[in-house]
Amino acid sequence: MIDLDRIRAETPAAARRAYLHNAGAALMPAPVLAAQVRHLELEAELGGYAAAAAEAGRLEGVYDSVARLLNAGREEIALVENATVAWQMAFYSLRFAPGDRILTAEAEYAANYVAFLQVARRIGAEIAVVPSDATGELDTAALEAMIDARVKLIAITWVPTNGGLTNPAAAIGRIARRHGIPYLLDACQAVGQMPVDVEAIGCDMLSATGRKFLRGPRGTGFLYVRRGLLQRLEPPMIDHFAAPWVAREEYRLRDDARRFETWENNYAARAGLGVAVDYALGLGLEAIQARCQALSARLREGLARIPGAVVRDLGRSPSAIVSFTLAGRAARDMVAEAARAGIVIGASEPTSTRIDAERRGLGSVLRASPHYYNTEDEIDRLLTLCAA
Ligand SMILES: Cc1ncc(COP(=O)(O)O)c(C=O)c1O
Repeated sequence: MIDLDRIRAETPAAARRAYLHNAGAALMPAPVLAAQVRHLELEAELGGYAAAAAEAGRLEGVYDSVARLLNAGREEIALVENATVAWQMAFYSLRFAPGDRILTAEAEYAANYVAFLQVARRIGAEIAVVPSDATGELDTAALEAMIDARVKLIAITWVPTNGGLTNPAAAIGRIARRHGIPYLLDACQAVGQMPVDVEAIGCDMLSATGRKFLRGPRGTGFLYVRRGLLQRLEPPMIDHFAAPWVAREEYRLRDDARRFETWENNYAARAGLGVAVDYALGLGLEAIQARCQALSARLREGLARIPGAVVRDLGRSPSAIVSFTLAGRAARDMVAEAARAGIVIGASEPTSTRIDAERRGLGSVLRASPHYYNTEDEIDRLLTLCAA
């Protein structure tokens, strides 16, 4: 059970605004903020290098925390600046040849899709978009039917940035494994919102961010790469941390996932990330997911009763990202109106998930993303505003 009073006391800003923008950047809990301030103060006192040395144990522990969050090994984790860098490191490590195929989904995130386009343009690899089923989820039967010897990667977004969808990540993993195809999962919006188990999912690479549902600092992200694949992936860019310069003409890549990192890091942010992961694990990801689902269901049900409001969500088990439109009210204006009423929500542009937006004829949509620290009353305040 989540102790809402304690959680909200540790999230002071939650008393001042209804913060429903967790898919953008969540409010950090006080211990996450304190860990960063503490490290920054140490850096100001000792200097950055001595501060990192003094905190080496704690900073190493961040790998253990992230590994626990994902049910992975610590050597399978790289800590980087954001989800995009994590994803890029994995994707651009793969070697494609002309005619190789990349299978992806209709709601793929823009950052990933433009990287596919670049590789298609540079190398002549092909992008194939797996159609969605009637509910809007990736159609796993269609995926299975599209697999042949040309397919060199399955890369999908588990929980897209809008559209409420949760793609069937584990069912896709079973197909990828059966055919021995590398599987890169964008779990940016999933971590911190629901349990994530790389063994149960069967993905080979997974990217995520700190600042969204994990409630960590901005500028933090991480990459998981399965042990068996790790040694075969040469990062697209390396430095002397990823690959020590062992002889005049030689470098040797690290054995672990830190081959995807660089030498210099924001250790205060990293310390905050570790605390954020431990905080989520302490509450329990099942409990977090249950509350996220209850609050987002309340919002969807309430919107369904408001004339002119249309929930634009897809899939069988919707995430805590609620996308909707209000007739006659532009998304951007509504975000500003909500802000004036002390309610923080966001808007998603069609360019962030272009294929899905074009397929459904969607323009800008409103995006409200509750988290476990929100209250039913906050959801109702948003509903009242939408109904006004
Ligand atoms: C599904 C998805 N993938 C990747 C990203 C990129 O994450 P980051 O901004 O941490 O690089 C986002 C950010 O909104 C996202 O929603």
